[in-house]
Amino acid sequence: MESMRSSATGSQLLLKAAALKNDSGTAWYRRRKWVLVLFPVVVVLAVILPVYFLVIKKNGGGSSGPDGGSSLRIGGNGSVVTLENGTQFTYLNEFGGFWVDDPSDPFPAYAARPNSWTPPLNVTWDWGKDKVYGVNLGGLFVLEPFITPDLFQRFNGSRDEYELSVAMREGADGGIGELEEHYKTFITEEDIAEIAGYRAGAGLNWIRIPIGFWAIETWDDEPFLAKVSWSYMIKVLGWARKYGLRVCLDLHAIPGSQNGYNHSGRLSPVNFLNGNMGLANAQRALYYIRVFTEFISQPEYRLLVPIWGIVNEALVGVIGMDQITSFYLEAHDLIRGITGYGEGNGPYIAIHEAFLGLQVWENFLEGSDRFILDQHPYFSFGGVFEDPIATEAEDGLPGGIWPKRACDSWGPGTNTSQQNFGITIAAEFAASPNDCGLFLKGVGAESTNTQCSIYNDWRNYNDTMREGILNFVTAEMDALVHWFFWTWKIGPSGVSGKIETPLWSYQLGLRNGWIPKDPRTVKGKCQRLGTPVSPFNGTYAPWQTGNVTSDSIPASSREQYPWPPATISGADVPVSLMPTYTATGAVATLTAGAVAETLGVDGWFDDGDTAGGVVPVKGKVAHTLPSLP
Ligand SMILES: *[C@@H]1O[C@H](CO)[C@@H](O)[C@H](O)[C@H]1NC(C)=O
Ligand SMILES: *[C@@H]1O[C@H](CO)[C@@H](O)[C@H](O)[C@H]1NC(C)=O
Ligand SMILES: *[C@@H]1O[C@H](CO)[C@@H](O)[C@H](O)[C@H]1NC(C)=O
Ligand SMILES: *[C@@H]1O[C@H](CO)[C@@H](O)[C@H](O)[C@H]1NC(C)=O
Ligand SMILES: *[C@@H]1O[C@H](CO)[C@@H](O)[C@H](O)[C@H]1NC(C)=O
Ligand SMILES: *[C@@H]1O[C@H](CO)[C@@H](O)[C@H](O)[C@H]1NC(C)=O
Ligand SMILES: *[C@@H]1O[C@H](CO)[C@@H](O)[C@H](O)[C@H]1NC(C)=O
Ligand SMILES: *[C@@H]1O[C@H](CO)[C@@H](O)[C@H](O)[C@H]1NC(C)=O
Ligand SMILES: *[C@@H]1O[C@H](CO)[C@@H](O)[C@H](O)[C@H]1NC(C)=O
Repeated sequence: MESMRSSATGSQLLLKAAALKNDSGTAWYRRRKWVLVLFPVVVVLAVILPVYFLVIKKNGGGSSGPDGGSSLRIGGNGSVVTLENGTQFTYLNEFGGFWVDDPSDPFPAYAARPNSWTPPLNVTWDWGKDKVYGVNLGGLFVLEPFITPDLFQRFNGSRDEYELSVAMREGADGGIGELEEHYKTFITEEDIAEIAGYRAGAGLNWIRIPIGFWAIETWDDEPFLAKVSWSYMIKVLGWARKYGLRVCLDLHAIPGSQNGYNHSGRLSPVNFLNGNMGLANAQRALYYIRVFTEFISQPEYRLLVPIWGIVNEALVGVIGMDQITSFYLEAHDLIRGITGYGEGNGPYIAIHEAFLGLQVWENFLEGSDRFILDQHPYFSFGGVFEDPIATEAEDGLPGGIWPKRACDSWGPGTNTSQQNFGITIAAEFAASPNDCGLFLKGVGAESTNTQCSIYNDWRNYNDTMREGILNFVTAEMDALVHWFFWTWKIGPSGVSGKIETPLWSYQLGLRNGWIPKDPRTVKGKCQRLGTPVSPFNGTYAPWQTGNVTSDSIPASSREQYPWPPATISGADVPVSLMPTYTATGAVATLTAGAVAETLGVDGWFDDGDTAGGVVPVKGKVAHTLPSLP
């Protein structure tokens, strides 16, 4: 491992040590005195002046550190942003947000915010008070047919990223390198600025970014594009920091597939904690969780990435509750071993309720340090729903049955879970009450819903239709309290040139009036619809929000949920005879980009974490992925 990280010099280690000493939970960036002197003035200007653009020249010379002589820029409503390629736009933000940028210092000591109701990034998020209003960057680093249909149409027949990657590698055009073109163009700085409120005014404050394991590495015959997505992740993280958006990092694709869905990288049987390769793939998943944790626990990222979704939608119905609990406990111990215990030390760990219902998770691993429960409620799967949305709802506004159904189905359960599990978020939901849309049901599959021509044709929505959807989305947001919409953007069909799955695009809805421009306005919607409301009072147990210095998980829980689990489902042999990997490889570290590396950010937080990387035992394990169904 050391050899792979041999670029870490003595002075870099000193910097890291200094950053650690400084880190008290409120200060996360390395500080510079002159900044602390100037900043209050800047903030006052930022908030009061309607139009301004400030460039503060740093004092050059040795005293301002390795990046001396560069410039800090801060801008609020009406300021001009210059993009990497020289293009400029005027940042409009009516909600009191401002951006902060220093091209030569990715980790400035002062922090941006997207609006007045969101604490700037250098202030600890208060779960009892602050509300998550977020969107996903779905389809960016983990591709899905319905999000970027044009790519899947061009590589005709591909149903998931695995098949797309194979087709690209075989294809005549740009080969697998075309994926990089997608990373470059699908989400740009302007998108991130727009999420923070530029243009239409979004009022949002978080993004969730799905990533696949192949951002770290691929093995043998895995066709995914290795490593490249991470360099674009670094760009997105930089923009999030610039515009003041917090990040939920979401490991969406696990070796072997944790759910068999196309968005796990491969449409396949579940081969994570299930089947003959289930243990080996879980060991590899733990290793990748470790590598990502090392990166986001660094002082420079810790408050930017306060939530770490370690496994998206593990299919616990197949895997088993005991098995997944063993895995989550092992991951918890691994993560806290790196980050240390308690608020300010590493991220919250988000786990998905696995479509089993929130209630199943009540009292989950009591005494652990900062788990978050994540639900993904959708009406779009599990039936053909023809009920119209352009008719009156219980509150006299358009929306049909949908707004109240959202409130009744999700509102009370969410608050009960806040009380009985702890922090509960909805990291995915959409504006669609049905399964209409191009490729939504998969490539080559189509909804049988007879209303789809109406729902897909967003350019011709009348006011009742638009307001019906708006009221449905408003109800969903009120019911879910802390939410991330799925997803920010849907690309056009390569055949028609039009967006044909409109109700999954936040950007489209925001610009065309069926997504609220100010999420604070959703409050009270469920009450007005007649849903019995029982407010969660915002008080969590100390261990649920990291008011601890160690964990207090009882020994009986550890006995009940050993690692590895006593049994693994779907396998031909007992756990003791299952293939495993060995931790003797070089450790892969994640880069923070050239500028950061010169400042000593080497991607690895815990220098005490010197275990090897997981590799196959030579001659023992040949395959990591199942053959095509
Ligand atoms: C934001 O800036 C725009 C354009 O300069 C201006 O028209 C608008 O009044 C400003 N809004 C606020 C709240 O300052
Ligand atoms: C955090 O950023 C704010 C501006 O958003 C600034 O006023 C404050 O001084 C910073 N705090 C620290 C501890 O750096
Ligand atoms: C994909 O291929 C099928 C036949 O192989 C063809 O009918 C269809 O039009 C193609 N679709 C696209 C989008 O090219
Ligand atoms: C510059 O980059 C932005 C995205 O960040 C893009 O929208 C714009 O088209 C680019 N302009 C040029 C001239 O390439
Ligand atoms: C692919 O996943 C999407 C959800 O993101 C789902 O709607 C679709 O049915 C899946 N397609 C297939 C063929 O499994
Ligand atoms: C609006 O559009 C919906 C869906 O096409 C339709 O059912 C409804 O009658 C329309 N309403 C008006 C007022 O035109
Ligand atoms: C849930 O609790 C919040 C306060 O945390 C409250 O605003 C909301 O109305 C409650 N929702 C329901 C359905 O009880
Ligand atoms: C919130 O509710 C919990 C459980 O019902 C209770 O123990 C706590 O005292 C309440 N906190 C406040 C501030 O009312
Ligand atoms: C942490 O817990 C202690 C008691 O266990 C309490 O006095 C203190 O107020 C708590 N701090 C926070 C930030 O909740």
